[in-house]
Amino acid sequence: MTIFNIKPLRCVHARIPIPADKSISHRALIISAIAEGATEIRNFLESQDTLATMGCLKKMKIKMSYSKLLRRVIVTGKGLKWPKSKPLSLYASSSGTTIRILSGILAGQESEVTFNASEGLRRRPMARITAPLRKMNARIEGRKIKSNEYPPLVIRPAQGLCGIHYILPQASAQVKTALLFASLYAQGPTRIKEPYPCRDHTERMLTLFKAAIRTERGYIVSTPVKKLKGPRTLFVPGDFSSAAFFIAAGVLLEQSKITLPRIGINPTRIGFLGLLKKMGARIELKNKKNYFEPYADIVVSSSRLRALTVNARQVPLLIDELPILMVCASFARGTTRIYGLKELKVKETDRITSMVYNLRKAGVDITAGQYGKKKDWKVVIRGNPAFKSACPLRFKSFSDHRTAMSMIVFGIASGCRHSIDDIRCIDKSFPGFVALVKSLYR
Ligand code: S3P
Repeated sequence: MTIFNIKPLRCVHARIPIPADKSISHRALIISAIAEGATEIRNFLESQDTLATMGCLKKMKIKMSYSKLLRRVIVTGKGLKWPKSKPLSLYASSSGTTIRILSGILAGQESEVTFNASEGLRRRPMARITAPLRKMNARIEGRKIKSNEYPPLVIRPAQGLCGIHYILPQASAQVKTALLFASLYAQGPTRIKEPYPCRDHTERMLTLFKAAIRTERGYIVSTPVKKLKGPRTLFVPGDFSSAAFFIAAGVLLEQSKITLPRIGINPTRIGFLGLLKKMGARIELKNKKNYFEPYADIVVSSSRLRALTVNARQVPLLIDELPILMVCASFARGTTRIYGLKELKVKETDRITSMVYNLRKAGVDITAGQYGKKKDWKVVIRGNPAFKSACPLRFKSFSDHRTAMSMIVFGIASGCRHSIDDIRCIDKSFPGFVALVKSLYR
């Protein structure tokens, strides 16, 4: 167990480099691998999750040359259909994105694959991808438990996939991506409807690689093309979800100003930014760039926050920032209510339980409960701008990177020394996080 001691901090003035976007890095590797020719991915994120995707592609005999120093990967694409190989076993480690989205590509290949995962990921639901992929004629099966399926998944060559008309039961970019990837191998168009919009990195990148993706009367429509052809180079902007922890720090710490250069500002990712501004945060976007994934420098200054209500439609636009939003709400004036949280129950850990446990331990007035006919989840936080926590406390990461980073920011802002039990999980998305936090004390 790697324990981290959290010390309070005041008055930070810093320019903090944030590593590249995880979602875009996964997609850049995979889409380059099914394109024609070589793609140079610049500012690639090296983290446990993206290395898992790289490892799987290597096993599928995709050539990749990677320079850790330059944060650059050159992927030599093999076209949509990869040569048939003997049955293979792939390992997704703890990366839900790897197993869910790569399965969409594997469903269209001619090789048999067993897709295994870490103990943690073997507890996460997969029927959300296997069921619609089977509707497309894919031969994919998970380990069945009650009415769901779990890794390992077995994917066998199909007779030919067909396009489907599918309404996603939950707003999930991983599920949408698995289906869009499989649609590249289907006969006829695939139409997908999301209950609420969620991150659209796949649609943007497939369009950049000249796939035929359009929106039509609320549906995302993908029509198969013969081949994908991308730009020779592709830049991955900084990860907004990683930046969010330092955005919160900049807002919560007194007399502070933090600049985060070249962060992705795709509108389907920055729900947290809009909400924080509504809560009274002083945040500016500078040097905006109009790339296929837009990016900008984010500048945040200390602010007084007031509470607000978040509804279920807004949640997919900040799905990974909900733990850090709960931290911000703890220091806001008034009662924050966040609805539509049921997807948090099936992340790396149940993030409702993990955040309620930690914040309550610190003395925050937070409650969680189910509501409505569909038994969705909500969290209610009675914030306090003058909050000072009980101390010293030992927080629990629950082996979840975003719970760990959120509680470290909470600890820094809470005016007291704390510690957190196990921070190795942070390497999943943000390997340099602790070093960056430590650098703020100098
Ligand atoms: C991701 C989608 C989201 C997000 C995850 C990354 C992606 O998951 O929470 O961190 O890259 O598509 P869901 O699709 O399960 O919401």
